[in-house]
Amino acid sequence: MTDGLIKGRTALITGASRGIGRAIAGRLAAEGTRVVLSASRMGSHGELNGTLEEAVAEIEATGAQAAAVAANLASDEERGDLVARAEKCFGPIDILINNAAMGRWGLPSALSLKDRRKMMEVNLHAPVDLAQQVAPGMRDRGEGWILSISSDTARQFDVPYRDSPEAAHVVAPYGATKAALNRYMEGLAHELAPQGIFVNTLAPVAIVLTQEAARFVGHIAKANPDMVEPMETMVEAALELVSERHVGRVAYSRRLLHSVGRAVRSLDGRRELGDAFLAADLDGVVG
Ligand SMILES: NC(=O)c1ccc[n+]([C@@H]2O[C@H](COP(=O)([O-])OP(=O)(O)OC[C@H]3O[C@@H](n4cnc5c(N)ncnc54)[C@H](OP(=O)(O)O)[C@@H]3O)[C@@H](O)[C@H]2O)c1
Repeated sequence: MTDGLIKGRTALITGASRGIGRAIAGRLAAEGTRVVLSASRMGSHGELNGTLEEAVAEIEATGAQAAAVAANLASDEERGDLVARAEKCFGPIDILINNAAMGRWGLPSALSLKDRRKMMEVNLHAPVDLAQQVAPGMRDRGEGWILSISSDTARQFDVPYRDSPEAAHVVAPYGATKAALNRYMEGLAHELAPQGIFVNTLAPVAIVLTQEAARFVGHIAKANPDMVEPMETMVEAALELVSERHVGRVAYSRRLLHSVGRAVRSLDGRRELGDAFLAADLDGVVG
């Protein structure tokens, strides 16, 4: 466990039915934070494993407090009262983690307006709306943390492309939503920091092999094992950004941990892990 900074706080984590959001929720809960998990639906998702109901049950089984609130973040109506509904579970939200995102892959010359709009709704407008929903309460209490999960696809990959030009191009529309997210959150961070609200974004330095990542970039990860990042580094870096007083950082997981000298712990927070989790190449950023 860490130093207890986030014990007794309440967090809302979007995209928490599986993947990175689920892992962050579990670790926060292990550190004594009450967690409200959100995703677009409570139950099964068809081909993908992991539901909100299961995630909450697993966290509760550890003795921690967890609850679930569903909302499709692509709908401004459904997300309009998400924070109010989440606050009915355990009280005011101290920590908001905007983790949910959607990717539509296609050449920038061809991706439809429908797909571009949907990505912008989930990846940019939803995080901003939720930040606007939590900010007044955080301002009143004089304290709060807002973390949005971003991606290195926010920048164009360096030439020569490690995989293929097409692979570098098809992620551009998604990357554009993450670039917008980074820029918006930087501005919000500097507006809210004087009120004790700490806003940052965080991206993996490489591929975190969630089900979604395995479906789309699993072949790249298989061909280049050094381009895979353990879930633990993302989770640890997220903890750093929702417990300390960073302002407006567009952070990368391992780089952040290096810069602050923070050790990586297991997903249940019980064990400190070896340096191998920090030692890998820091320049191969692709996530
Ligand atoms: N994995 C990586 O290598 C990687 C690299 C760079 C950045 N990231 C970023 O990390 C974050 C998590 O990625 P991940 O790989 O863990 O994703 P994931 O496994 O696909 O999980 C995505 C989560 O978001 C939820 N979600 C998706 N669309 C939603 C919507 N319209 N409304 C509400 N919830 C929605 C999903 O739940 P439902 O489908 O049930 O709604 C799920 O809980 C994302 O922001 C992603 O951009 C990941």
